[in-house]
Amino acid sequence: MNQYNILLDPAKMPDAWYNIIPDLPAPLPPPLHPGTLQPLNPSDLAVLFPPGLIEQEVSPKPMISIPGEVMDAYRLWRPTPLRRAYRLEKLLNTPAKIFYKNESVSPAGSHKLNTATAQAYYNKISGIQELTTETGAGQWGTALSIACSMFKMKCTVYMVRVSFQQKPYRRSVMQVYGAKVVSSPSNTTDYGKKVLAELPNTTGSLGIAISEAIEVAAKSGGKIKYSLGSVLNHVLLHQTIIGQEAKLQMASIGEYPDVVIGCCGGGSNFAGLAFPFAQDKLRNGKKIDFIAVEPKACPTLTRGLYAYDFGDTGQMTPLLKQYTLGHDFVPSGIHAGGLRYHGVAAELALLVKVGVMRAVAYHQNPCFEAAMMFSQTESILPAPESSHAIRSAIDEALKCKESGQAKTILFNMSGHGHFDMTAYDDYLSGKLEDFELDQKAIDAAEAKIPKVG
Ligand SMILES: Cc1ncc(COP(=O)(O)O)c(C=O)c1O
Repeated sequence: MNQYNILLDPAKMPDAWYNIIPDLPAPLPPPLHPGTLQPLNPSDLAVLFPPGLIEQEVSPKPMISIPGEVMDAYRLWRPTPLRRAYRLEKLLNTPAKIFYKNESVSPAGSHKLNTATAQAYYNKISGIQELTTETGAGQWGTALSIACSMFKMKCTVYMVRVSFQQKPYRRSVMQVYGAKVVSSPSNTTDYGKKVLAELPNTTGSLGIAISEAIEVAAKSGGKIKYSLGSVLNHVLLHQTIIGQEAKLQMASIGEYPDVVIGCCGGGSNFAGLAFPFAQDKLRNGKKIDFIAVEPKACPTLTRGLYAYDFGDTGQMTPLLKQYTLGHDFVPSGIHAGGLRYHGVAAELALLVKVGVMRAVAYHQNPCFEAAMMFSQTESILPAPESSHAIRSAIDEALKCKESGQAKTILFNMSGHGHFDMTAYDDYLSGKLEDFELDQKAIDAAEAKIPKVG
């Protein structure tokens, strides 16, 4: 009898997050202040984030306890199932074993709720009543809207214009949870007005939406804080609940992965699954192939520069040493809106730079082809972002078929695609475009990266 779902006893859910910083093979280059370009003082972040999250940004502790109220929120959908993809394996006729962690079962439909609940909690206990944020695909905005409604807080979401138009029901979902949703760029911020005046027909980008959300928090006189859905250490930290559960689940059936795969926007779902396994590679030299998968339309890790850059287009965030395509790079309007980000988390960038992890990039059509195979075998309809991880997992399994190796492959099914049906419609009717990214466009955006470090 096939054991499809490997479930974890709720009593065994990990009660601390894993912080990779002390295990990194080289010190993490410090974030820089956007005004002075000098190393940032953690107190400079106080205008945007509450003390609990700032502490996690720079903490040297390897494990950080998950507060009881956050554990309680997690119990609404965690532990999530680990599933063996027997049916997909059969379709591929591969000797590889394929496992995936199913984060689509969260009420938000993705992994994003793991950090949204934690961020809402730390803001709430510091007396904050209102959060502002950006969203690309709508998944992060949905997660923060749900978390704010759980902790009885107000929430304003700047939604990238192309997604606002492609996914009207995502907007409605956020409104159901009480959030205010604004199409970005907008007339509600000085930065949004400037962009609209210069580029009235822009598709928008995560970089622009972040600038708008930050401006609202920075000008609120301390009443409103800003919340980010990826990239920063505290976000990656909160997501490590995924990999820690997966480790326990795999161990419970005597398995351990040879390959760990995740799609990569800012890096949080990939890091969330990969970092707890990376601990074994960094501390004990365990052989694991880590693959971050990105779109060819936004190839941050595969074609970007390793350099200090801003996290947003308006140059308001601290600068992180990361792989970047340039802070004002606007990717084509691919359907994986959550992967349209010019930069990536500094910890992940460092691990790719030193060769502990690697990255690959795909066009969207082969990803949707993989999503169709996955839907028709595993019965879960994946988000366009997650389809990138599925494509890579399938390709790794097909390589095993050629070589005869029976590798164990684990990937993160970061979210479902129930609000992405325009994308599937386009794919099914042959209308989905694969955007070739000209090196000149990358060079032009990279020329604007500040010359530091
Ligand atoms: C389902 C899903 N997966 C992945 C991502 C990419 O973000 P990250 O790289 O932070 O996991 C997003 C972002 O919105 C998403 O919605």
